[in-house]
Amino acid sequence: MAKKRSGPSGGRRENRVEPSSARVDSASGRSKLVVLFIVSSIIAIIVTYRFRRSSQSEYKDSNVYEQGLVTTHANYHHVLTENSKVSENTSQRHYTYPVLGYITPWNSRGYELAKRFNSKFTHLSPVWYDLKSQQTSLVLEGRHNADRGWMSDLKKTGEALILPRVVLEASPAVLLRKEKLRDKAINLIVTECEAMGYDGIVLESWSRWAAYGILHDPNMRNLALQFVKQLGDALHSISSEKISGKQLQLIYVIGPPSSEKLLEHDFGPKDLETLSEAVDGFSLMTYDFSNPHNPGPNAPLKWIQIVLQLLLGTSGNRAQSLAPKILLGINFYGNDFSLSRDAGGGAVIGRDYLALLEKHRPELQWDEKSGEHFFLYSDDKDIRHAVFYPSLKSISLRLEEARSWGCGISIWEIGQGLDYFFDLL
Ligand SMILES: *[C@@H]1O[C@H](CO)[C@@H](O)[C@H](O)[C@H]1NC(C)=O
Repeated sequence: MAKKRSGPSGGRRENRVEPSSARVDSASGRSKLVVLFIVSSIIAIIVTYRFRRSSQSEYKDSNVYEQGLVTTHANYHHVLTENSKVSENTSQRHYTYPVLGYITPWNSRGYELAKRFNSKFTHLSPVWYDLKSQQTSLVLEGRHNADRGWMSDLKKTGEALILPRVVLEASPAVLLRKEKLRDKAINLIVTECEAMGYDGIVLESWSRWAAYGILHDPNMRNLALQFVKQLGDALHSISSEKISGKQLQLIYVIGPPSSEKLLEHDFGPKDLETLSEAVDGFSLMTYDFSNPHNPGPNAPLKWIQIVLQLLLGTSGNRAQSLAPKILLGINFYGNDFSLSRDAGGGAVIGRDYLALLEKHRPELQWDEKSGEHFFLYSDDKDIRHAVFYPSLKSISLRLEEARSWGCGISIWEIGQGLDYFFDLL
C-alpha cells in the first residue's frame, strides 16, 4: 500500500553507507531477550505507577517529556492510552530550527493535523503536483488536488509557508537539453505559485534523474544543477503574497549518499554548495534504510550521523552556514516485516500500529544500536513479524541529532504519525 509512496521517492540503494546496525533475524539474542523482558517488566511497573497519578485528560502546562513518556522503556499500554494526548498549548514550539511537514492527499488526517499543529511548522508541503511531458511540450498537473479552503484556514491561524511538492516526471534528457523546455518548466511552476498564492515549491527531481541514468554524464549532471539553480533564481525574483519583502522559496529533495565514497548519482557536499544560494532548504530523505529483504530499523541513528557528516563535512564554517538549510528527514510511518523465508511486509502508519498493539499486546523492545523501538509477533499463520515504528524516544533522539548540527527537519508524512509526536516539535 503506502510502501511505494512512503518516501518522496523509492529507489533501492545498493552499496550504501552501512553502519553496524542491528538486523532482526533468527534466534540471535533470545537469552538476552529474557533478561530484557524481566528488566523491562520491572521498569514498566514503576512507570505505570508514576503515571497513574497524572493521566486523566490533556496535559495542562505539561508535555510528553514531563509525563515521563519519552523513554526507552516504552510499553504498549502507555502508547495505547497516551498517544492521542498532547499539551494544551499546541502553539508552543520546542524545535527552533525549520520544520517541514509533508501532507499526502490520500491520507486526509494530515490536513487536519496541519491545521491543529500549524504553529509547529515553518513549512507545509502538500504532495500535489507533477510536471509531465505532453507531446513536445510540458504540463503541470495537480491543480485538482489543491485545497483553497484548507490553505486559507492555515493562513488565518499560523505562519507556516505553503510549498506544494512538484515531482519532475518529464523525460529529463529532453527537458534538460532544450533551453526552451527548461524555460517553459520554470514558467509553469512560477505562474502556478502566483495564481494560487503559494510561498514557493518543494521540487523532487534528483531521484528521477538518477533513475534515468543521466547523472553519469558530467555534461547532463551540470545541466541538471543549472536547472535547479535557474528555478531557484526565478522563484526568488517573485515576492511572496503573504509576507511583504519575502521571496518565493525553493526546497529541493535529496537522497542520502549511497556510499561513503560518493558516486556520480549521489548528491554530495559540492552539489550542496553549488545550489546553496538558489535553494532555501534541502529535504534529506534519511529513511527506508531497511526493506523486506533486509528487515531492520527504518533509519539507524548511526547512519543518520554518517550521512550528515558526509554532507556537512568537518570544515566548521561551511557546515555552519549550510546546516540550517538541511532538513533532516524523519519518518512518521514504520514497517511491519514478515521474517519468513519469502520476505514480505510493508509500511504501517499510526492506526495500523495501534491496531497491532491492541491485538498482540507485545513487549516493546529498544534497539540500542539503531535507536529505534520494535516488537515481534506471530500472525495467524504463525509467521514471525518484526514491527519498527517510531516512538517518542526514537524521534527525540533524531531531533537532538539534528539540533546538534543546527539542522532543520522534514517529516514524511504528518498524517501517518501519532498525535503525541507533535508534542516533541
Ligand atoms: C502558548 O505558547 C505560546 C508560545 O510560547 C505563548 O505565546 C502563548 O501565550 C501560550 N498560550 C497559552 C494559552 O498559554
